[in-house]
Amino acid sequence: MFKTIMVPTDGSEFASRAEDVAIYLAKKLHAKVLAVYVIDEKLIYPYEVLEDEGKSILKNVGKKGEEQGVKIKEVLVVGHPAHDLARIATNENADLIVIGTHGKTELEKLLMGSVAKSTLNSAKIPVLLVK
Ligand SMILES: Nc1ncnc2c1ncn2[C@@H]1O[C@H](COP(=O)(O)OP(=O)(O)O)[C@@H](O)[C@H]1O
Ligand SMILES: [Mg+2]
Repeated sequence: MFKTIMVPTDGSEFASRAEDVAIYLAKKLHAKVLAVYVIDEKLIYPYEVLEDEGKSILKNVGKKGEEQGVKIKEVLVVGHPAHDLARIATNENADLIVIGTHGKTELEKLLMGSVAKSTLNSAKIPVLLVK
């Protein structure tokens, strides 16, 4: 159990804490980390800008993993972040999801953001919410 720990990240402070928890657990459990960034297909932004942003967010996780001797697999996909993360977890055989309660929108009055909520709702595996 807990051989592939998935951490969805949007580069926010919350996601950064989730990355640290995922890497910490992976080190303890001799697991690998799957770092996932979903480029929101609904965003009206030049694709290259979003792709560059995603790549640099994932590269940063890779660097943190390297520092800890933890293997990081980087996954960059285009889609709908709230809908796709649980499916990606299944496809990639992840057995734990570590996700921030909030992200970039920072509507902290809500219990959690829409991506976190939807992933928690549809995931078939344990979800660890990091606040
Ligand atoms: N585009 C994305 N790709 C991957 N993970 C994401 C993405 N957006 C959000 N997340 C994950 O979901 C967590 C909660 O973010 P979200 O639900 O979007 O909250 P908010 O509404 O505050 O932006 C983030 O900390 C991050 O772990
Ligand atoms: Mg968000």
